[in-house]
Amino acid sequence: SGSGLPILVQRTISKQIQMIHSVGKGRYGEVWLARWRGEKVAVKVFFTTEEQSWFRETEIYQTVLMRHENILGFIAADIKGTGSWTQMLLITEFHENGSLYDYLQDHCLDVNSLLTMAQSIASGLSHLHTEIFGTSGKPAIAHRDIKSKNILVKRNGECCIADFGLAVKFLSDTNEIDVPPTIRSGTRRYMSPELLDKSINMNDFNAHKMTDMYAFSLVLWEMSRRCITGDKLKVADDYAVPYYDCVPSDPSFEDMQHVVCVKNIRPQISLRWDSEEILQTMSKVMQECWHSNPAVRLTALRVKKTLSKLVTDTSI
Ligand code: ADE
Repeated sequence: SGSGLPILVQRTISKQIQMIHSVGKGRYGEVWLARWRGEKVAVKVFFTTEEQSWFRETEIYQTVLMRHENILGFIAADIKGTGSWTQMLLITEFHENGSLYDYLQDHCLDVNSLLTMAQSIASGLSHLHTEIFGTSGKPAIAHRDIKSKNILVKRNGECCIADFGLAVKFLSDTNEIDVPPTIRSGTRRYMSPELLDKSINMNDFNAHKMTDMYAFSLVLWEMSRRCITGDKLKVADDYAVPYYDCVPSDPSFEDMQHVVCVKNIRPQISLRWDSEEILQTMSKVMQECWHSNPAVRLTALRVKKTLSKLVTDTSI
């Protein structure tokens, strides 16, 4: 029983779930809104070819001390057998605002909501990246597929991080990284320069954290574009994916490598961001996180502290 729940308890879960409707599709499978014990839940149904992603994600969610307000709340993992056919399910909290990607399509942000969202993602990432020592501690975890589609928007305006199918764990006592036995790699559009030029040392755990920080910088850029500026004439940019203006949709590895490594291009910092203190800080943070040299990028903890200070300073 991969979820850790006793098999007799676990096998009854899928029978109690009423699937309502599909809320999203991806290369992993499909996410459904469902009802379980009178509550709305999200059910991720994995393709049979994605068994490793289901197994890894289930394992990560059941790591001790994984529960955090900015990490998607795990409820259960289940295998539903219909004769020779088995379906792998992951049951989590449901967030009706959907993914940050979906949300940004039809919502503009004011500076305070931008700050809340950015700070909450940094908090979730910082919790993930931090190893907690002791008998019931937690390993350091790197996500490896940070993007706006893998972040959900909560009702209180904060965000939470989802999709741990590619995550890696690290325990300093053994000094070993357990790299998931999958051929799946992160989303090409969000790949860092060191992944694209293959200079990354996969055996160095910190290197994986730094690729998360690069991807996070692109998410900050996506959010900042949607942030409203101007007192009389309020303006925001239309939603755009990172590198929308330099690579085609579904870019190849080579497309990304040419733009990010050879030409050293990064998303454009808008001049209108100069007019707001919060957006000035956002610009500074994103540029420090998308630096070509992974060693000089800000850590999630540093970004969390910088943005937390901005929350207190601007709310007086
Ligand atoms: N899309 C993917 N996961 C989701 C969740 N947990 N809630 C709402 N929409 C989602």
